[in-house]
Amino acid sequence: MTVEVLGRAATMSNTWSGQTLPRPHGRLPLLGDIPMSATPRRPVQSITRRCARLGPIFEINFLGRRIVMVVGAELNEELSDDSRFGKTLAPAVANLRLFVKDGLFTAYTDEPAWRLAHDLLRPAFTKAAMADYHDVMNEVVDELIDTWDRAHGPVDVSTDLTKTTLETIGRTSFSHTFHSFSSPGQDQFVTSMIAGLTHGMRRLVFMVMPGGGRLLARKDAQAQEHLNLVYRTIDEIIAARVAAGDTSGRDLLGRMLNDAHPVSGDRLDLENVRYQILTFLVAGHETTSGALSFAMYYLARHPEVLAQARAEADAVLGGMPDGRPTFEQVPKFRYIRRVIDESLRLWPTAPGYARAPQETTTIGGRWRMAPEDWALVHLPLLHRDPSVWGPDPERFDPDNFLPERIRARPAHAYKPFGTGERACIGRQFALHEAVLVLARLLHTFDITPDPGYTLTVTERLTLMPKGFRLTATRR
Ligand code: HEM
Repeated sequence: MTVEVLGRAATMSNTWSGQTLPRPHGRLPLLGDIPMSATPRRPVQSITRRCARLGPIFEINFLGRRIVMVVGAELNEELSDDSRFGKTLAPAVANLRLFVKDGLFTAYTDEPAWRLAHDLLRPAFTKAAMADYHDVMNEVVDELIDTWDRAHGPVDVSTDLTKTTLETIGRTSFSHTFHSFSSPGQDQFVTSMIAGLTHGMRRLVFMVMPGGGRLLARKDAQAQEHLNLVYRTIDEIIAARVAAGDTSGRDLLGRMLNDAHPVSGDRLDLENVRYQILTFLVAGHETTSGALSFAMYYLARHPEVLAQARAEADAVLGGMPDGRPTFEQVPKFRYIRRVIDESLRLWPTAPGYARAPQETTTIGGRWRMAPEDWALVHLPLLHRDPSVWGPDPERFDPDNFLPERIRARPAHAYKPFGTGERACIGRQFALHEAVLVLARLLHTFDITPDPGYTLTVTERLTLMPKGFRLTATRR
């Protein structure tokens, strides 16, 4: 079953022709490098701390598997060359295929469903297409502002921003609301979706655990039950849309049902449409709410940055009676956009992606990679490469994203949205939404963070600040 789930990832040996790469000290024979850390549930942060000095390429052992990581900007320039390398699925992502099959994120590039969905959906994610979603984004922020207005005391930032991005992606992808702000608990659909996919990412642990087979079978069955509920809900919505014969819908579902490939005339089959909807829901909400939550955290910690961002929000929105930006105004929040870019540098909420060569090749003039080898680009370390970001890469500085500084940097030193043809299709969507939300919050509220808070980051499907609370008071 594993081979079927993983597809070709199951056959990737990752031997790197027996080469020895730098590796952290203190490996445990069976468990490998990660459980040595005090935070085994936070492998990304553990690697960021323990491997920062190992150089541009190194290997770790994770539960008996060899994982090679590339974190140097120069080496990443080679991996970013689509004529030599392409996306492959790291084992944790490959395991998600059990639940989202050949949806855009988990498809192999040469699977027909990837090219078809990519070509069909690209027009839905251009900068201009954001005009179709802009009003929905504003409408959801109205609900967030209303919720913060009514809060008595501090609010949990990540929780509320995740409600915001989930509502936005639900309404723009298939015109569905999860009533995130109006009902007290979490919608069962959302609970099930997250439970199923989190298990997908973690099933590797059970696969290598001695005697883990039975536990894995039980956990797989529980996850499948959760996912069946999610499939049923999405399928019902698709079926209702098809039965109504409505061809006017311009949400993502409408586009998938109504549009044909511009050249071949092919259409997505309905089962694949289900996986695409699920993919957008998952890929498109915690990533953006994490980026927003980290940005709020840094703003709360850096009063001078906060003052500059707010001055920009006021300058653009001051003349708007309801404080809602128009579509054309969003690109005017240039400094706020830099705050988001810099937050994603330090905390890229999708923290890595995997690349494999098309044919045997050498990187860095030295490391031989065969097609069955792959490397993980570990973004938190790439984004701290001191040869690019200087001796103090931890320093939060939105001016790292001034146009002249961007131009002066190697092109592949900053990759929070991945690379090449498999880069994030939702990048414009995420940035339009994040900038709009942040501008409106700064324009509306004074924010006072909990003074005792120390940043704690959870690693689930994405990176996310945990327990970050602040008091939002109407200005
Ligand atoms: C700040 C927010 C976001 C971040 C940091 C982010 C990051 C990424 C990264 C790194 C990849 C490449 C993964 C790989 O190579 O394996 C990716 C792919 C993808 N993202 Fe995003 N993403 C964000 C928001 C969104 C949104 C809002 C959507 C949908 C509306 C979305 C949908 C997707 C899809 C469908 C793919 C797969 C594209 C393909 O392979 O053709 N993402 N994202």
